[in-house]
This record gives sequence, C-alpha cells and structure tokens, in this order.
Amino acid sequence: MVKISPSILSCDYAKMGEEFERMKRCGADWLHIDVMDGHFVPNITLGAPLVKCLRKCSDLVFDVHLMISDPMKYAPDFAKAGADVICFHIESDSPTEATVDLIRSLGCVPAIALKPATPAEAVFPYLDKLGMVLVMTVEPGFGGQSFMADMMPKVAAVRAEADRRGLALDIQVDGGVNLETAAVCGKAGANVLVAGSAIFGSPDPKQTIARLRAAAQN
Ligand code: DX5
Ligand code: ZN
Repeated sequence: MVKISPSILSCDYAKMGEEFERMKRCGADWLHIDVMDGHFVPNITLGAPLVKCLRKCSDLVFDVHLMISDPMKYAPDFAKAGADVICFHIESDSPTEATVDLIRSLGCVPAIALKPATPAEAVFPYLDKLGMVLVMTVEPGFGGQSFMADMMPKVAAVRAEADRRGLALDIQVDGGVNLETAAVCGKAGANVLVAGSAIFGSPDPKQTIARLRAAAQN
C-alpha cells in the first residue's frame, strides 16, 4: 500500500492546523513536516514548538524531515513534540548510527535521508536499524523544484538491498513528485510519496492524493 505524505512546506503557514485537518479529510496517510535550519539548507521553516501545537490538530503520522546540521541535538525536542517518524540527513554533522539509535530510544521510527549526490550504498550499513529511507528527488531546501528522474536507480538499489535482507523498509521520495512522476517512483520501489506543490496547488487535493497513490501502486 502506497502512502501519501503531503509536504506542509507548500501549505498556508497561517492556517497550518486547519490545513492538517483538511489533508486528513482528503485522504492523506502521513503529514510531512519539513524542518530547515538555514544552515544545512539555505532556508528556515519551523521548529519543535510549532510541531507540539500542531500535534493537537491531527492524529495522522507526523513524518518529520530534519534538514538541519545537528539532528542528534534536536531529535529529543521533536520526539517530545509528537513526531512519529524522525528522518535526518546522512550528510549532516551528527554521527549516523548514534543518531539512529537515539531516535529509536525516543520511541520514534528512525529514517535516513539521502541528498541527490549521495549513493544508495551510503545507507546500507544502517539499513537493518531503519524504518525508512528517504531518497531526495530534488536538492533539499525548497518546494516546487523539478523531479530528478535519475534518482530512480537509487530507489531501486535501496529496495533491492532491503528485499535481499528481507526487510519491510519504507522507501520515501521527496521533491517534484506529481501526477506525471509518481508512477516511476512506485515502479522503482518507493512506497511513501511526499508531495507539496502537487497537492496544495491542486484545485482538488482529495482527487490528487488518490491519483498519486493509484499511479504509484500500478
Ligand atoms: C524540499 C522538501 C520537500 C518539498 C517538496 O527540501 O524536503 O518536502 O517541500 O515539495 P514539492 O513537492 O513541491 O517538490
Ligand atoms: Zn521534505
């Protein structure tokens, strides 16, 4: 079953609570919360205090994507705020394995994100400990960028390795996912699709979510 995780980067920040409720009504499975520190990426979004407030507005899975330099330092704050999945970048300054272990010990699902230049193999040493791998299909930092189809072999390589080890790993794609690009994501082995502009820019987000899921599943 393919899961759809709308990226709140594209929603109306002044109405975030209502947007979360709306996404649930539209059939979203998860909510993708993009956290940027202006250091790991050249953009700043939001922090744990806002996630804590939003937690009261939604019972959907909070899929927190940390685009920050020191995820190990801030993971406890996000866990306390109500994150379910905590995804950090392998390219960050935090020690990878210790950060995975910390996230697990906080009661959250640990996930590792890979920037476009980072090969699939970089995540293999940690695969058995992870709930999810995020293969970025744009450079992290901004919504509305073009999908990098050349990331699909990376998705396929992570899926093949997970299958070889018998792991029921979630593989997420994030960046430029829309009705045209969702199918190749599913074909390559991704089962969690993040979409920001495609969903929030749609006149009918409910239909878009259903179509994204169907495209990736076929
Ligand atoms: C990019 C973020 C993405 C982004 C996706 O750095 O991690 O989650 O918001 O937005 P779209 O779907 O518009 O590319
Ligand atoms: Zn993201």
